[in-house]
This record gives sequence, C-alpha cells and structure tokens, in this order.
Amino acid sequence: MLDALLDRSILLSFDRTGFRRHARRFVPGELDVRGEGSTAIVTGASSGLGLAIAEGLLARGLDVILAVRDLAKGVRVRQGLGALSARARVMRLELGDLGSVRSFAHALEGTRVDVLVHNAGALLDRHELTGDGLETTTAVHLVGPTLLSHLLWPALSRSPDARLVHVSSGGMYGVALDVDALFDARAEPAFDGVRRYALAKRAQVVMTEEIARRCAGSVVTASAMHPGWADTPGVRTSLPRFYALTRPFLRTPAEGADTALFLALAARGREANGRFYFDRAPARTHLRAQTIEREGERARLWDRVAKIAGLPEDAFRA
Ligand SMILES: NC(=O)c1ccc[n+]([C@@H]2O[C@H](COP(=O)([O-])OP(=O)(O)OC[C@H]3O[C@@H](n4cnc5c(N)ncnc54)[C@H](OP(=O)(O)O)[C@@H]3O)[C@@H](O)[C@H]2O)c1
Repeated sequence: MLDALLDRSILLSFDRTGFRRHARRFVPGELDVRGEGSTAIVTGASSGLGLAIAEGLLARGLDVILAVRDLAKGVRVRQGLGALSARARVMRLELGDLGSVRSFAHALEGTRVDVLVHNAGALLDRHELTGDGLETTTAVHLVGPTLLSHLLWPALSRSPDARLVHVSSGGMYGVALDVDALFDARAEPAFDGVRRYALAKRAQVVMTEEIARRCAGSVVTASAMHPGWADTPGVRTSLPRFYALTRPFLRTPAEGADTALFLALAARGREANGRFYFDRAPARTHLRAQTIEREGERARLWDRVAKIAGLPEDAFRA
C-alpha cells in the first residue's frame, strides 16, 4: 500500500528513490545476458540516456551503431568508451531530416538489426520547422523514427528476436493525443516547448501500440518506456529550473536507461509488445480519463504519419 501511495505521488516514483524502491522487485540476473553476434542501433547515442543504453548493450557483447546527428561528437563519445569502442560504430542520423533517415537506412541495406532503440529527443525552446515542413519536435520524435523503423523492417525481420524500443516520457501523461496540434506547423506566438514535447511523446506511445498491433506474430517486439527523471545534459540545458530544484533526486543515466535495456535484452522483454513500461514493469498510459483520445484519433495519427513518411498500406505487417 505504501508503494502504491509513493507511486501515485509521481515525485517519489520518477526520482532516484523510486528507481531504488522498484529495483527491489527486479528479477535477479534478468539482464545478465550476452549478445555477441547481435547488432543494435541507438539513436541519440551521443549523450545522456542514449549513451548509457549504448554502453549497456556494448557491455553485454552486442555490436552497437551509435546513430548521432553530429559525427564529430559521436566520434569523441566513441573514443570515450575505452575497450568497448571496438564494437561501436558511429553513423550520422538527423531525425529531423527525412532524407538523412533514408540515407542512414540505405547504408544498412542487406544487414541484420536485432535491436533498434529510438532514444533521440529534444525539448525545444522555440518554434522550428524542418526542411520537410514539419514542426521539429514532431519530426524528431514521431515521423523520423517511424520512417526509420519502416525502412529497417527488412533488417529487423532477419533477426530471430528483434526489439524495437521507444524512449518516451512521463511528460506525456499531461496530454491527450492531438493530431491537429502535432501537425500544426504554423509559428506560435508563445511557443510552448513542454506541451509540444508532451504531445510528441504521447503520439510516440500510441504509434508504438499501432506498430505492435500490425506486427503481432512477427519476430519483432515493439515497446515503449519512460525513464523517470534522470540527470542528463538534455535535462540540464532544456529544463534548468527543474534541474536546479531536483538535481539531488535525479536518477543516474544508467538508472534511467535500465528499462530500455530490459526491453531490448531480457527474455521477458518479448512480452512487452505494444506495451508501455516503467522500471521493468508495465505501466498505465493514462493517469486521468481526460487524456484518453477521441474516437478515430489513432487512425488519423496513423494516416498522417503514413502519408508524410510514405508508408505502404502493409507497413509493419508480419
Ligand atoms: N533525462 C530524463 O529525465 C528524461 C525523462 C523523460 C524522457 N527522456 C527522453 O530520453 C531521451 C534521451 O534524453 P536525454 O535526457 O538523454 O537527453 P540528451 O542528453 O539531450 O540526449 C538526447 C540525444 O538525442 C539527440 N538528438 C536530439 N535531437 C536530435 C535530432 N534531431 N536528430 C538526431 N538526434 C538528436 C542528441 O544529440 P546531440 O548530442 O547532438 O545533442 C542526444 O544524443 C529523449 O527522448 C528524452 O525525451 C529523458
């Protein structure tokens, strides 16, 4: 009962005490797995959680592609991996540019991919449009990643047990799915980056559910998670006031990355198709009835993304 109360407080659940409390329920040894011969891609691997996820995968023997928007930074980060760097490869990926997504996937044609972690993300402080005419938050969290998953589907399908993991955010709990708002690319008089971010993270979770429904019965498991609040460069720079207040309570990057690694590697991660996880356990996708989407909104989301990304009718089908 105390656990349920603390979880309901959010603060004492998303923070580091929440992780340590939840970790007491983890199944010992579940992440003591080896992945030699498997290949993983981690987007946004140049910083924070993405780097911690990449390190976790490398430490378990996988080959890891560090998908980064800034190659020079990626190379520096790879150098900092020490002995693990031998199995790490840096490739450029700008998720706000559909052409970059296509080039990245093209370079991997004919390969096998066992794990794809959609981790890259950003909370912007001003309205920005991508070259494809999308608001950048929507492009980076939703359209770019969906196109990438689609283009890499043949590579994922070559794996005996492929995992598609989406790093979302507890920030999505505050909003309902709103397709018009997501694709409204007009400049806003007072840009609300936090709301834009929450909308994109909500949409990412709904998209995961839709992909999972389509690929049920295939070798691919599509899941989403949220990391709680972790001490990363992203939080430090995008939310300086939040960071100053919460710093002593934030999770380490490794703690924030833990559930993504669980979904990517643990045998039980296979049960997560279409589900949303937090601290290695299924979590609710709504805390209030007001955030449940209007009828038809999911189909509208799918149609808009499919049209912009050029997804065929049978995308993600087994
Ligand atoms: N930390 C938390 O408490 C927290 C909480 C909830 C959700 N999350 C989510 O966790 C993920 C990782 O966040 P973080 O806290 O580790 O932040 P971070 O330190 O800022 O890392 C974000 C990563 O995404 C990359 N990225 C940003 N925009 C990109 C783009 N357009 N194309 C390609 N890559 C791009 C960044 O590249 P550069 O290195 O070049 O900037 C960086 O590698 C994000 O999806 C975030 O929303 C984090």
